[in-house]
Amino acid sequence: MPVIAVIGTQWGDEGKGKVVDLLSERVDIVARYQGGSNAGHTVIFGHETIVLHQIPSGIFRPGKVCIIGTGTVVDPAVLLQEIAVLATHGIEVHERLWVSGKAHLIMPYHRQIDAASEARKGPRAIGTTGRGIGWAYTDKMSRQGLRMIDLLDEARLAEKLAANLSEKNVLLESLYGLEPLDGEAIVAEYREYAKRLAPMVTDTERLIKEALGRGETILLEGAQGTMLDIDQGTYPYVTSSTPTIGGACAGLGLPPKAIDVVIGVAKAYTTRVGGGPLPTELTDEVGAHLRDEGQEYGSTTGRPRRCGWLDAVVLRHACWINGLDRIVLTKLDVLDGLERVAIATAYRIGAETVEVIPADVRAMEEAEPVLLELEGWREPTAGATTLEELPEAARRYVEQIEKLTGLPIVAISTGPERGQTILQPDPLLP
Ligand code: IMP
Repeated sequence: MPVIAVIGTQWGDEGKGKVVDLLSERVDIVARYQGGSNAGHTVIFGHETIVLHQIPSGIFRPGKVCIIGTGTVVDPAVLLQEIAVLATHGIEVHERLWVSGKAHLIMPYHRQIDAASEARKGPRAIGTTGRGIGWAYTDKMSRQGLRMIDLLDEARLAEKLAANLSEKNVLLESLYGLEPLDGEAIVAEYREYAKRLAPMVTDTERLIKEALGRGETILLEGAQGTMLDIDQGTYPYVTSSTPTIGGACAGLGLPPKAIDVVIGVAKAYTTRVGGGPLPTELTDEVGAHLRDEGQEYGSTTGRPRRCGWLDAVVLRHACWINGLDRIVLTKLDVLDGLERVAIATAYRIGAETVEVIPADVRAMEEAEPVLLELEGWREPTAGATTLEELPEAARRYVEQIEKLTGLPIVAISTGPERGQTILQPDPLLP
């Protein structure tokens, strides 16, 4: 039975929350494999908009099991707050939400160093979400991180924390001019988190293996997007994890051959939040239209997102790196009312025209998009549920994306609500 991965094809914020929410109706388990509280997955639940940072969007579907996998970094305070928000909406996570014992913890010094190091970088700042992500992964990679299992063993937590603080406090005080942190206070704070999170900590690899053995279906929920991937994105303007498909295998202990379908989520235009190159960026009134109509403000930080035309160079990169089988196109309705629309098909970098993502971020910063211009549409696509309802020009736009990527678009989102979706029958999906 299928294991389906849902992956962002751009710089995150493609609308994966809605796609996962829709697909999770058809699966048994939804699992997050990387990232942490930097993600903001927006789901419309009843009349409310809820933003999840760490809990998979499948939690809104009664009875579905949700997993926060080994490859993630967990901020326990944020996680508990999310659980509390869900409870106010009548959503219980008991026996439905499981956190890998091997997932790493985000500690207070990770958040502090994130903010301080960004401030120190000045104009070269990455523009992080300030959630401590990069520093939690730094500690993981340098093999001094604290994990969920450490949280459950207070003596070990205190010991590892002391070792960490002996370095971190030097950094905080000497480099950043901040107050040193008190280990006892942190242990006391994390002791309270441990009490509440302990029942959710488990061996998620085993849970997944047993579920697959019983023939259950799993949705792998990627956070961020391909262009924010630490290896395959616009380094250094990336996040510190692997949102692409390899991250799903590593982060959940899942063999690559167990993954049956990989779905790429692409917004009908491009956005990014934070620093780094964005070749199709529009700083004119069209960019403002996309930002206003698309409500393009960061769901974690509230920052305005940078907006631009769809970029087929980026999409093709995502298709290859992730081995995409399908594309789900989101926010098509945001383009309603534009006289013309455009898609980048290549970049001009100096005297060269290239069709691939350059390795050097400076080349990407120089890149001028080669634009394929298409007629826009005045009639609304908003709320459409069938392809026939789309204006001719919108249909041509969709077909053009299929042509440029060589992949079928199996669903189109035409508004934030569950029902505002064009869903094509798909033999690959359950
Ligand atoms: P970090 O993940 O907080 O370290 O931020 C690194 C980069 O990734 C910054 O440009 C952030 O704006 C971006 N980023 C992180 N998470 C998201 C997300 O969920 N959506 C969009 N951008 C993100």
